[in-house]
Amino acid sequence: MPILTNKFDAFGLDIGDRSIKAAHITKNSANFCLKSFGATIVPADVLNKGVISNTKELSNIINNLLKSCLPKPIQTKYVHACLPETHTFIKMLTIKKIDEKEIAAHIRDILPNHIPLATDESYIDWQIIESGTPPQSPPYQGGEAEGVLNVLVGAVPKAIADGYTEMLLNANLIPVSLQIEAEAILRALKPENNGKTDTECFAIVDIGATRSSFILVDKGTIQFAVSLPTAGAEITQIIAQKLNISIQEAEKAKKMFGLDKKKCDGSVASILDQEISELAQNIQKNSNFYIEHFKDAKPISYIILCGGGANLINLKESLKQKLPNLTIQFGYPIINFEKTTEEMQDYSLSFTTAIGLGLTNV
Ligand SMILES: Nc1ncnc2c1ncn2[C@@H]1O[C@H](COP(=O)(O)OP(=O)(O)OP(=O)(O)O)[C@@H](O)[C@H]1O
Ligand SMILES: [Mg+2]
Repeated sequence: MPILTNKFDAFGLDIGDRSIKAAHITKNSANFCLKSFGATIVPADVLNKGVISNTKELSNIINNLLKSCLPKPIQTKYVHACLPETHTFIKMLTIKKIDEKEIAAHIRDILPNHIPLATDESYIDWQIIESGTPPQSPPYQGGEAEGVLNVLVGAVPKAIADGYTEMLLNANLIPVSLQIEAEAILRALKPENNGKTDTECFAIVDIGATRSSFILVDKGTIQFAVSLPTAGAEITQIIAQKLNISIQEAEKAKKMFGLDKKKCDGSVASILDQEISELAQNIQKNSNFYIEHFKDAKPISYIILCGGGANLINLKESLKQKLPNLTIQFGYPIINFEKTTEEMQDYSLSFTTAIGLGLTNV
C-alpha cells in the first residue's frame, strides 16, 4: 500500500539494519529486465531496529551503493523504498458496509483495537478488497447484518516515515513511494510466477538477518503479516555461543554445514534444528490464528521461502519434516526476468524485497 505512488522510472531500495539492496527494473515489450542491482552492508551505528540514527551517513552509504551497482550505476533519482517491517502494520479488516466517505474515519476509530500505534501519529492507508457477508467471529467490527467490507489497512508511525523521507531527500533522491515490505515481497513472488493460481491460500516466510516475517496471502491478497523471532544473525550468535567460536566462524559454519547432519559431526545441524523447530511452530501458530480469526479462512497449502536465511542447507527438507501437510518451495523472484546474471541467481532470495519494490508500476 504505497503511501504515495506515481509512474516514474524508479528503482527499488530495501533498507535494512545490516544491509541495503537496490534493484532497477525496466520492461522490454512483455518482459521485465533487471537493469542494475547492488548491495552494501550497513555499520552498526547507522540504523537500529529500523530507526535511523545517522541520517547523513545512511544517505552517503546509499549514494555509494548506487554508484557501485552492476552492470552500471543507477542514475535515476526516483526511488520506491520500503519502511522497516517491525514498525509497520498490515491487516485485512472486515468492517460493516458503510458509505465510502465514512470508511477513513471508521478505520481510525477501530484501528487501536488492532495495532499498538497511536492513530493520530500514524500515516494510515487502506483499500477495499471485496464486499462480503458478515463473518461469524472477530475481527468483524460492525453491527449490521446486511453486509460487510474487507479493507486492507496499512499503517506506519509518522516519525518513522518522515525520517526515511528526509534521509532519501538528503541523498538527493526523490521518494516516489514508501511501502510496507510485505506488499513489495508479494509483488516479487506472485503465485502465478511460480505456477500457482492466485486464489490459493499460502504463506511467505522471509528469513532476514535481524528479523523474519510471516505473510499470509489468501484470495490473491495479504491477510496479515507478523514478525517472527527466528532470524539469521541471532542463529549465528547462538552457534557462536554454543560452540564457543567467534561470530565470523559461526557465520561460516552456518553457511557451510547448515542442517546437514553429516557435516561437522552434526553439531551445527543440531543447534540449527532447534531454531528451525521454533520457526515451524510459529508458522503453524500463525496459520491457526488465520483460521480462527478471519472470515472464510482456509488452511494454507504451501509456504514460499525467501530472504538470505532461506539459503540454509537442507532448510526446505527440515521444514517439510516438521510441517508434513505443507508444500515448501523457494520464492525466486528472478523467474520472470528476461536476463539475469549468475551472480544475481545466487543472491536472488535476499533481493526479493528490492525486486518487489523495483517492480512497482513497471
Ligand atoms: N547460505 C546461507 N546459509 C545460511 N544463512 C545464510 C546463507 N546466506 C545468507 N544467509 C543469511 O541470510 C541473512 C541475510 O539475509 P537477507 O539479505 O535477506 O537479510 P537482510 O534483508 O539484510 O535483513 P533484514 O531483512 O533483517 O533487514 C544473514 O543472516 C545470513 O547469515
Ligand atoms: Mg530483508
